[in-house]
Parts: sequence; C-alpha cells; structure tokens
Amino acid sequence: MTTLASLDTPALLVDLDRMERNLARAAAYTKEHGLALRPHVKTHKSPRVAAQQLALGAVGVTCATPHEARVMADAGSDILVAYPPVGTPRADRLAALPAHVTLTVALDSAEAIAEMSRAAASAGRKVSVYVELDLGMHRVGVPVIDTAIALARRVREEPSLDFAGIAFYPGHVREAPDDQGAKLAELSAALTGALRKFDAADVSARVVSGGSTPTLWRSHEIEGVTEIRPGTYVYNDRTTAAIGACGWDDCALTVLATVISTAVPGQAVIDTGTKALGREPVRGAPGEGFGMLLEHPEVLVERMSEEHGVLDLSKSSWRPRVGERVRVIPNHVCIVVHLNDFVYGIRGDVLETSWPVAARGRGERAVI
Ligand SMILES: Cc1ncc(COP(=O)(O)O)c(C=O)c1O
Repeated sequence: MTTLASLDTPALLVDLDRMERNLARAAAYTKEHGLALRPHVKTHKSPRVAAQQLALGAVGVTCATPHEARVMADAGSDILVAYPPVGTPRADRLAALPAHVTLTVALDSAEAIAEMSRAAASAGRKVSVYVELDLGMHRVGVPVIDTAIALARRVREEPSLDFAGIAFYPGHVREAPDDQGAKLAELSAALTGALRKFDAADVSARVVSGGSTPTLWRSHEIEGVTEIRPGTYVYNDRTTAAIGACGWDDCALTVLATVISTAVPGQAVIDTGTKALGREPVRGAPGEGFGMLLEHPEVLVERMSEEHGVLDLSKSSWRPRVGERVRVIPNHVCIVVHLNDFVYGIRGDVLETSWPVAARGRGERAVI
C-alpha cells in the first residue's frame, strides 16, 4: 500500500471519491434536465478525467487552447474550442488537429471567421462555429444581436465552416445559487430575445451553449440553453465553496504541503508558494489569503514567496511542528492545476493512482 508519506511536497491530491461524486452529480443533473454536458477541461487538463466525463455521458469537451484540444483528442473526438481562433498560428494549430476530431470554435468577429475559414480550407476540413454573444459578462461576445446574425450569415458563406449555434458565458453570475434568480431571469430574457431574432432572420441556432460552475445547478432555468460547459465543478475550490456554489465537502483537490519553518513567532511557513498555488484571490465572496487549510479552516495562507507560504496562526490554537504536513484548499483550482505537473489520486490516506496534467502549458516548441 502506497501512502501519502511517500510523496514529496508540494503535491496535488485529488480525493477520488469526491471527484467521482462531483462528476456523477453533474451527469445526473444534465440527464434529468435534457441538457448536453460539454465540460470545460481547463480545470483538470487531463485526458484521463475527460474520458471519465465522456463515459458518464458528456457529449464532448470544451477547451480554451490549441494545446488542450490536441491533448484531449486522445480522449474524445467532439471538441469545442470556446476561444476566438484569432491569429494564423492559433487557427492553423486548430485546423491541424487529428482528423478524427469534430471541431467547433466560438468566435465573435469577421477576422476570426476569415482566419478559421482559411485554415480549415487549407487543411481540408470542415469546422463548426458558434457565434459568441455577450449576455452580461462583458469579456468576449457580440452585444448587439443584429451584428451576431450578420456574423452567422458570414459563417454560412464559407464552404469550410458550418454555423452550428450560439455561445455565451455567464461568468458575471457569481452569487450563491439561491440568489441568482434575478440574473438568471435577465439571461433568459436576453437569450430568448436573441433566439427569436436568429429564427426570424432564418439563421436558427441548433445549439445554444452556456453554463458555468456557479450556475451549474440552475442551468435549466436559463431558457433556450441546450448545452452547458462547467469546468471547475470537477474539483471545486475555496472560491466555489465560499460563494455557496458547492459544499466544502465537494472540494476534491488540495495541495499537500510540508511545514518547513516555525522560527518566526506567530506563524508557520509551508513549502507552497506562488509557484504551486498561484496568487489568486477569492473572487465574488469575502475571503482573505491565498488558500485555506483543510484540517484547520481558520488558518489561511497569508503571504507567499515563490516557494514559501506563510500561514497566519493568529486565529488558531494549533501550533504546527516543523515537518508536519497540511493540505491547502486553493482559492482557484484551475490555476493551481496548471502550475503543477502531476495529480495524485487518493482514497482516504491511500495513494491509489496518479496522472500527469497533460495539457498544461502551451505545448509548442519554438521553431527557429
Ligand atoms: C468560455 C468558458 N466556458 C466555460 C467555463 C467554465 O466555467 P467554470 O469555471 O465556472 O466552471 C469557462 C471558465 O473560465 C469559460 O471561460
């Protein structure tokens, strides 16, 4: 039996029971509500976890980068890149995905259409397109529906492209699920209005792709949505729990750390700094620090250097020993996974398996 004691730290631990429960719950919810689940892989970046999601009924996966898409082609064939294919290298890398991949991209500009069309034509493949709408997040997406319709028509003119539907990301909805009613009603109204206009213009959307982890369990209330793309739900994190979008028991990923110093009174230092944890704040809820100890929730990672995390012990009676191990619930799990090479799957204290974070980084060697 391999135990946690054999692991060097910092190490990403995934509680397999929790992860499997998170995956099964989302699969059951989408099945119950007749929604297609297309999980965003940016959180786990691993074909092994994607394969589990697909085995539970996901229709395909969502990626942000060409590298993620390339790596996920090993797990499944239906890939959405929910990121504008702008720039010749990006469009070319997408068009060069293995031939078994059915590729869809989300975009919001005539430039992206031209770029993707050229790359797809020269690779001899057909690429499906979602036109992205801005329904309140104000990041990417077309805010004016007539402009979006014009883009959909433009897509239809390109022989190498197929207009498949519309996409939006409700990243501005970060309230606790019980408090999302007003924003979800606004989203529904905006979306149904947009869909009516698309229908009237004879460019009906086959797919309406939205969704996030905070809105996951209320996705069915966003009228018109056919597909959702939660990513964070696989592991969850301190932010997701702090806003009430999951329970603390649903946080599947922690960073195993070792206390390396208690020399300065009133604090302890762990070997988990910015290079393992990132410097992510809690977003959308009050919360100081850069992570919280699983075993001592009153203790936060208060400050960090690259390889040092300083624990604030002022609210705790716990006094750690040098060499003691702790587990940190990170503020934003997607960044933490991206910063680390491997994940270790545990059940209780037993180390059951491990897998690489295969799609981390950009995945391209410089060609000079
Ligand atoms: C376009 C898009 N879709 C889906 C997601 C997944 O959302 P969440 O992290 O809330 O699970 C993200 C997250 O960044 C995203 O950018």
